[in-house]
Amino acid sequence: MASGRNRTEHVIGLLLGTEEDWPRAFEELVRRIGAVPGRDGEPHTLETERITIEPFDLRAVPHYDLVIDRLAYWYYVPREWLKKIALVDDVYLLNSPFTFQSMEKHAAYCAMIRLGLKVPDTWLVPYKNPVDNARYAYTAAKYNLPFDLDAVADRIGYPLFMKPYDGGAWVGVSRISGPEDLHRAYDESGERLMHLQASVEGYDVFARSLTIGAETMVMKFQPELPMHERYAVEHDFLSPQAGSEVLTISRLINAFFRWEFNSCESLVRADEVHPIDYANACPDIAVTSLHYYFPWAISALVKWSAFCAVTGRRSRLDLDTGRYFEVADLDDLSYDEKLSRYAALAEEYFESDRYREFCATSLADLDDIVLDWVASSDFDALLVDTVRSTYPPHEQDRFVAHFRGLLALWVRDNAA
Ligand SMILES: Nc1ncnc2c1ncn2[C@@H]1O[C@H](COP(=O)(O)OP(=O)(O)OP(=O)(O)O)[C@@H](O)[C@H]1O
Ligand SMILES: [Mg+2]
Repeated sequence: MASGRNRTEHVIGLLLGTEEDWPRAFEELVRRIGAVPGRDGEPHTLETERITIEPFDLRAVPHYDLVIDRLAYWYYVPREWLKKIALVDDVYLLNSPFTFQSMEKHAAYCAMIRLGLKVPDTWLVPYKNPVDNARYAYTAAKYNLPFDLDAVADRIGYPLFMKPYDGGAWVGVSRISGPEDLHRAYDESGERLMHLQASVEGYDVFARSLTIGAETMVMKFQPELPMHERYAVEHDFLSPQAGSEVLTISRLINAFFRWEFNSCESLVRADEVHPIDYANACPDIAVTSLHYYFPWAISALVKWSAFCAVTGRRSRLDLDTGRYFEVADLDDLSYDEKLSRYAALAEEYFESDRYREFCATSLADLDDIVLDWVASSDFDALLVDTVRSTYPPHEQDRFVAHFRGLLALWVRDNAA
């Protein structure tokens, strides 16, 4: 790795697992942008680089301005490298590994409860099979109290959901309609730590919002459908009030934890927004999931990366929980008034005004560049390659046609 950074030549590092689709898209868009004028009009260049895993000197000076991380939550060598480049070198990270301890449902629920949001009643229950380690035997025997699982479930009421406190991809999630389900699911939970959570019954909409820096897209999500149909292409599926509430809560939680690339889930029933899943270390942005929204996601990622690198936005490793809790503790404020105070704190954290101004001046051509590219044979090749590596041969033609249709729709909507 060459070392050292340059004030006008910026390298964006990509720390990747198995994905090829969005990194290729990101690399191509960055290539097509060319030079980006900075505040003083001076041209800045952006370059991308895929990061490899190697021994590293804790004093080595990295040449990255910013790193987009999709790996370190699970993979420890790059995790430690990220900590080093954040602490020693001020490299900007999406996201900071120092927040991984909160990157589960549990911490986000706790923060949201403290902030007065409508998280369904949730309990954490001890392990069915506590982690087997001789060091814990004494503590377990002396301090692990037997408890009445049925009594906890009765307090919450049926139906309820049992799900891992840190889960993803629906693994270990079950809807529990009575004591028999409850015991079966708990017995099966084994060494996973579980939440029991009141079910939001008969909700009208499942809203999934993807936040990338200062931008958030709220999408209608249909978890019961197969992967390629889960994100519905629908624009006015929430009332203006519920839509803005979902948006505000997403930005609030992201600003609160300093997450700048995250997806959040809320269940909306009769205009009441109930957040259920607000922390995703590696939010899904596959073209085969997002389809119509994929061009938005890649543009937002390019814009936010360019904004941070070119304007020299400083990363914040510290949390500023006190300012949020001050608002939470104002007893004379209504829920809506608190939300608007939180929204202001989030805008301040993301520097939304400065970001919008940067996009309008320094990245004024970007939307046209994205439109040209999504309509090009180059993009089509990316789509076809992704379908080939995702679906079995007999389904590939059908899926190529399906996604082509959705992306052509995006091109039509955006050319208008
Ligand atoms: N409190 C709840 N009320 C109603 N439905 C719920 C509740 N909690 C979870 N669900 C349902 O269970 C599904 C999975 O729950 P959750 O999102 O908490 O788990 P997950 O493992 O993160 O899944 P995913 O990766 O799909 O987000 C949700 O999509 C929703 O349909
Ligand atoms: Mg979820």
